[in-house]
Amino acid sequence: MVERTLVMVKPDAVGGGHVGDVIGRFEAAGLAIRALKMVWLDRREAEEFYQVHRERPFFAGLTQFMSSGPIVAMVLEGPGAIAKVRQLMGATDPAKAEPGTIRKAFAANIEQNAVHGSDSPESAAYEIPYFFGALEQHAYRRTG
Ligand code: RTP
Ligand code: MG
Repeated sequence: MVERTLVMVKPDAVGGGHVGDVIGRFEAAGLAIRALKMVWLDRREAEEFYQVHRERPFFAGLTQFMSSGPIVAMVLEGPGAIAKVRQLMGATDPAKAEPGTIRKAFAANIEQNAVHGSDSPESAAYEIPYFFGALEQHAYRRTG
């Protein structure tokens, strides 16, 4: 099934100069970029985006980190895109991430872990319109 998923390059990977590398991995895996922009979330916006985690012990640290610098948000599309992106990302904790994954390559620790990807169709349905309106998402044919 063709799916859309919301992906972010997190502030650590933006600051580390890995934006192109991360996006390149998704493109090379055949995913199509439907929308893309750089955003610097404030604390309240990070809290709203991650509201599903508001009761978690890591919520304060997570939202502080996610508002500490700009992120690059994008919508990626393809067959099974949600699972495909999460496979390319690797485990939340980079110490447990498989070789060849984005987090293995670029993440420092379980919090500063380089990348976000929607974890379900329900999450994608909340997260995509959080960043992008209909006029910012573009359907075109990938020829490469
Ligand atoms: P994400 O939502 O960012 O794609 O990451 P994920 O699904 O792999 O992990 P999730 O459980 O949804 O956690 C969201 C983000 O919170 C931070 N975190 N810190 N200190 C901790 O124990 C801890 N656990 C999670 C990470 O930045 C994680 O990606
Ligand atoms: Mg998650």
